[in-house]
Amino acid sequence: MIRPMAGQFLGKSGVRVSPLCLGTMSFGNEASPEVSAQLFRIARESGINIFDTADVYSAGESERILGKLIADCRDEIVLATKAYFPTGPDRNARGLSRYHIVRAVEASLKRLNTEYIDIFYLHRHDDETAIEETWRAIDDLVRAGKILYPALSNFSAWQGMKATSLCRSRGWAAPICFQPMYNLAKRQAEVEILPMCLNEEIGVMPYSPTGGGLLTGKYGATRRPDSGRLLDSKMYEVRYGSQSNFELAERFTALSEKYGHEPAALAIAWVAAHPAVSAPIVGTRSPAHLQVAIGSLDIELTYDSELYREIASLSTTPPPATDRNEEVSAHNFGSR
Ligand SMILES: NC(=O)c1ccc[n+]([C@@H]2O[C@H](COP(=O)([O-])OP(=O)(O)OC[C@H]3O[C@@H](n4cnc5c(N)ncnc54)[C@H](OP(=O)(O)O)[C@@H]3O)[C@@H](O)[C@H]2O)c1
Repeated sequence: MIRPMAGQFLGKSGVRVSPLCLGTMSFGNEASPEVSAQLFRIARESGINIFDTADVYSAGESERILGKLIADCRDEIVLATKAYFPTGPDRNARGLSRYHIVRAVEASLKRLNTEYIDIFYLHRHDDETAIEETWRAIDDLVRAGKILYPALSNFSAWQGMKATSLCRSRGWAAPICFQPMYNLAKRQAEVEILPMCLNEEIGVMPYSPTGGGLLTGKYGATRRPDSGRLLDSKMYEVRYGSQSNFELAERFTALSEKYGHEPAALAIAWVAAHPAVSAPIVGTRSPAHLQVAIGSLDIELTYDSELYREIASLSTTPPPATDRNEEVSAHNFGSR
């Protein structure tokens, strides 16, 4: 039985999304097609209606697997995919040129076995392609009905705001959603991206809410699991594998135990509690771990609560964009 999750509108759009999104980066990689099908079924039964993939996940296999799984419920799914990273050795098989975006969308539509992509993310900013070229191509794809809503991932706030302003000034379809990395170990988004999205009514679907597994209880100052993404992937080891992060994991696990919560669930609930956040994207290779992630919805954690502040105090709050850190203290000219 499908239990509808409450959910809310994504940004200024009229699309309602569940308060959790299932990420499918593991599909066709750590999760076999059979396990992927189990994960999809659990997500659907719990009421999750939004699913996140990308053309590069498992070299297209994630989209192929997801395309089969959504075949009999396509009209109840909000389907998100992405393009930017290389899909082949050719020098044009990457980036945000009109040339690549059009081919990437056609290829994703085939793999996903669908006629349109609901949310199409630019997976990263392209420093070498003119913004007008990218966004005119996106708007054409929207008008052609191949993309319903554009969105941005891994963009800085100024890059996102520049794209948004350009689209608004030209009457082009503007991004409705941001997908930043955001968790207790990676809080850069708090400085500019989350305030910008709140101010502009742009939805936010943060990825890696447990820091690739860092905040799930299995890592600590000296504790390591037998295997896990931070040990098996050089990229994630570089991103999260510092001693200070393992010490943060130790403190976070102790706090979770103090309050009787699963660390992974509390980490996701903490991300979800930020007022800018629409729905964290959870990812896993294991049905049991997905149930833990879904359990985050049962944790009552609000942005103005003592527990939220206690968790936030475990890691460093990033300095304000203006560097006027005295403005968050009593030693200030005063506020309005
Ligand atoms: N836009 C982007 O650039 C971008 C980047 C990354 C991800 N994403 C999207 O966001 C989704 C979620 O990101 P993520 O996978 O990085 O999320 P995450 O929650 O930070 O990391 C998930 C990983 O943590 C470990 N884990 C999760 N729950 C656990 C539990 N209860 N106990 C033990 N280990 C647990 C598992 O890894 P192990 O089992 O390997 O330890 C799992 O694969 C992805 O599927 C993808 O759709 C987007």
